[in-house]
Amino acid sequence: MADQFDLTIIGSGPGGYVCAIRAAQLGMKVAVVEKWATLGGTCLNIGCIPSKALLHASEVFEEAGHGFKALGIDIPAPQLNLKQMMNHRAETVASNVGGVDYLFKKNKITVFRGIGSIPAAGKVLVTPQSGPQTEIATKNIVIATGSVSANLPGIVIDEKQIVTSTGALTLEQVPNKLVVIGAGVIGLELGSVWMRLGAQVTVVEYLDRILPGMDSEVARQFQRMLQKQGMEFKLSSKVAGIDKQENGSLQVRVEPAKGGEAESLEADVALVAIGRKPFTEGLGLDIAGVALDERGRVRVDAQYKSSVDGIYAIGDVIVGPMLAHKAEDEGIAVAEILSGQAGHVNYAAIPAVVYTTPEVASVGKTEDELKAEGIDYKIGKFPFTANGRAKAMLATQGFVKILADVSTDRVLGAHIVGKNAGEMIHELVTLMEFSGAAEDLARTTHAHPTLSEAIREAALALGDGAIHI
Ligand code: FAD
Ligand code: NAI
Repeated sequence: MADQFDLTIIGSGPGGYVCAIRAAQLGMKVAVVEKWATLGGTCLNIGCIPSKALLHASEVFEEAGHGFKALGIDIPAPQLNLKQMMNHRAETVASNVGGVDYLFKKNKITVFRGIGSIPAAGKVLVTPQSGPQTEIATKNIVIATGSVSANLPGIVIDEKQIVTSTGALTLEQVPNKLVVIGAGVIGLELGSVWMRLGAQVTVVEYLDRILPGMDSEVARQFQRMLQKQGMEFKLSSKVAGIDKQENGSLQVRVEPAKGGEAESLEADVALVAIGRKPFTEGLGLDIAGVALDERGRVRVDAQYKSSVDGIYAIGDVIVGPMLAHKAEDEGIAVAEILSGQAGHVNYAAIPAVVYTTPEVASVGKTEDELKAEGIDYKIGKFPFTANGRAKAMLATQGFVKILADVSTDRVLGAHIVGKNAGEMIHELVTLMEFSGAAEDLARTTHAHPTLSEAIREAALALGDGAIHI
């Protein structure tokens, strides 16, 4: 039996590790159980961080190949050193997971390596890969076990040729032809990486649009931008199966979503990116009596408490967008709640970013949602073609779209397609946190020349008019 802890967290992803740090800062004695060799969960090991390392490297490669000439930089065609690019990815991951190790030591958080399960409230059993089990006595438990890739029936993932995002982050050579199944965030980000490095990419999507959940106007225009870069789309289509050919290549059988004649797409690699599912395997939740919802997520109340007292859950394993920053904020909130504070997360102001070229960033309501909810809204838009800095950077693709309430002028949602959209969205997130109006933004001085001026201009467009268009 290990010492008695105030809080034991199962899973060290962004939800779990941030919860652990905040709980320790608030004076709790904290344990974290992690089955992987390194801390940081999906995000740091096989998600956000490695994908952004490859997105950055491949973007610079693409720019060096095609973007430098117009700026007056003549260089010979860049050569890809995929091995070194993968080293960069691995070093970025190592440095980030090492950072979590450091923070755990600094905050005196105890790590138990192994699979955590919950025989009952107040107890966590740790089963290591080898050696004896440890039972932890703990006042409270937070389940932060995250999610795993979903798969299609009949398709066997080998992470070499038929891959999830995990295999797509570690391919040893650039495929000639990559078929991506699912035009969501993973499909478009990792599809972009390999397209920039030379693959011919075809994305098969079940729905009649890309990026479901994002503003549909944004998605439509963004799709055109990706098509211009060479990405091909087969919308309203489903994959019926993948066959391995004798020559080693794949035949991906694609059918119209509504049924009809199938066609075959040849591929060297197929990436299955059709969503992720909550992961609760091995926790023994049925034994502890922790209830799941209809989609296999741990059911929690507004305080993140499960159906059993003393057992909480956060992050991808509960309802809500599967985003690292959402998991982190829930981690902070639950630590605060457990120490008697009023922790909460404002789900109306969680940004979402697709880290492609250009980036897509959004917060709050989409126009589709406002229409469906019958809310009287107005739209302020401004294109980067009319922004001085964007012209100087040859980054005029995209626009800012702000949606505000007609009667109160309160900003209800904002969507940006453009270079650095993922950084720029935060002034709109802050504005929405303060229930700000479009006029507040329109009257805020923005430095010139910046891309962010396009945001102010979109806000001006909601009042007496944008200046530069
Ligand atoms: P996870 O990060 O999934 O961590 C769960 C942890 O629990 C893991 O370490 C796992 O080993 C451990 N675990 C599970 N069960 C047990 C058990 N029984 N015992 C012990 N340990 C256990 N989100 C963003 O916001 N921005 C991005 O740019 C982004 N990019 C992504 C790119 C990819 C390719 C992928 C796959 C995801 C990306 N995400 C991104 C999503 C993000 O990774 C998740 O939302 C986030 O990691 C969820 O955090 P979490 O703490 O809930 O769970
Ligand atoms: P997703 O839910 O974003 O997209 C999945 C896509 O696959 C959808 O468009 C869906 O309609 C489609 N689809 C589902 N079944 C299909 C089928 N049988 N055939 C063809 N298409 C099908 O899921 P994705 O891209 O796998 O990402 C998982 C999660 O990871 C997301 O929820 C996202 O939040 C998170 N993530 C976040 C990132 C970011 O914030 N930048 C980056 C990568 C992942």
